[in-house]
Amino acid sequence: MEQETLIQTEAPVRERRLYIESYGCAMNFSDSEIVASILQEQGFSATSEETEADVILLNTCAIRDNAEQRIRERLKHLRGNKKKNGDLIIGVLGCMAERLKEKLLDEEKLVDVVAGPDAYRELPQLIAEVEDGKRSINVLLSLEETYADIAPTRLNSNGVSAFISIMRGCDNMCSFCVVPFTRGRERSRAPESIVDEAVQLRNQGFREITLLGQNVDSYLWFGGGPKKEYKQLTPEEQASSVDFADLLEMTARAVPDMRIRYSTSHPKDITEKVVRVMAAYPNVCNYIHLPAQSGNSRVLDLMNRNYTREWYMDKVRMIRDILPDCGISCDIITGFCSETEEEHQDTLSLMEWSRFDFSYMYKYSERPGTLAARKYPDDIPEDVKLRRLQEIIALQNRISNEKNQEYIGREVVVLVEGRSKRSEHDWMGKNDQHLVTIFPKEHYKPGDLVRVKIHKASTTTLIGTALGYAQF
Ligand code: 5AD
Ligand code: SF4
Repeated sequence: MEQETLIQTEAPVRERRLYIESYGCAMNFSDSEIVASILQEQGFSATSEETEADVILLNTCAIRDNAEQRIRERLKHLRGNKKKNGDLIIGVLGCMAERLKEKLLDEEKLVDVVAGPDAYRELPQLIAEVEDGKRSINVLLSLEETYADIAPTRLNSNGVSAFISIMRGCDNMCSFCVVPFTRGRERSRAPESIVDEAVQLRNQGFREITLLGQNVDSYLWFGGGPKKEYKQLTPEEQASSVDFADLLEMTARAVPDMRIRYSTSHPKDITEKVVRVMAAYPNVCNYIHLPAQSGNSRVLDLMNRNYTREWYMDKVRMIRDILPDCGISCDIITGFCSETEEEHQDTLSLMEWSRFDFSYMYKYSERPGTLAARKYPDDIPEDVKLRRLQEIIALQNRISNEKNQEYIGREVVVLVEGRSKRSEHDWMGKNDQHLVTIFPKEHYKPGDLVRVKIHKASTTTLIGTALGYAQF
């Protein structure tokens, strides 16, 4: 036995190269770093050159039809790579893999591996099966997997900011959304492993972390296992449980010299306790992504969002009362099933009232298998969806521009991330409220926290001049 082991370790191991491309949300980009780490353990090294790769993995998104169309186009393009290199292995990971399962292998002949978001530990085995001449698939979802023990390999990193996944899956069942089907049930990751990862990142020189979850406000740790609500916990579990506000506070204390952000909040669950932690710790950024989706209570009910327009407005009021300077951004869907013109106007008026700093805006895309696809006809004509979308984009642009102009003459604190895209003489970073800010480089460098006086602003960018180093 020992002899065999010796022979195996001495056999030359050919280093194989891995190219991963990520689509969709931050969670997917974070998952790719877990995948890279798992495969690195097996002798793979990450490359940024797809032509050098032995394995190409696309970590896919399924949130809207156009996200999937993009992947189909990319797969078509990869046929050329496969022609040039017959041994090339192509894998599809993530949400589209989970949604389509075996169908993906039937429809896309060049795909060798299909792996869902909870199956990444199996990737080395799946790839080995392909090397044995099979095509392989694992799309099992888990109630427990959080990859808590895996130290992600940071990919395409600026060395300044990094993501930390604090939970996986989603239990909300918004009627338009495919995520509960592609990412499975919600489960939280042990707080110690999250804090450890933050400390490790700090020790590696990172200056900012973003705690990621589909719905961070329902984070709850009580010792592990499938999700339970707080009221279902035993008194002992309740006493030792950690909610999102507790986790945010633990992290803020553990790395007081790092900036901390988080995403995404759900209006039905966001608590005053979380906002109070934000106010108490200067290293937690004043910024909340709070998707409203619609400004009309009937549409919100059809969307199964579990809050009304008034409830949403109360949450914005609560945030602004505690943190007057807090940046708030939003997600909006236009043209959801049966949305009337008046209901669309309600969305515009909510945006006007809330004065979001920026928004991510989409037209409704029906996703097979979702509650809405089963219950409500997708009955808003494409041209109407598009016109409504253009109206909300125009309004948001106006508001963003007005709000950004208010920064002129003010001092903001910017964490330098890297070179400005437009000029090699300028740095780019974000202020506390997550707004992109540009200023001349002088002697500053990436990772510096800099006080910047703003003298110009556009819809998307603040422009200023450095005044000196900043402290939290
Ligand atoms: N169609 C359009 N937009 C969607 N989103 C989620 N599902 C859909 C869909 N079927 C949007 C929501 C969500 C964001 C991540 O994507 O606004 O908050
Ligand atoms: Fe992320 Fe949702 Fe897209 Fe999956 S479907 S990658 S969870 S945005």
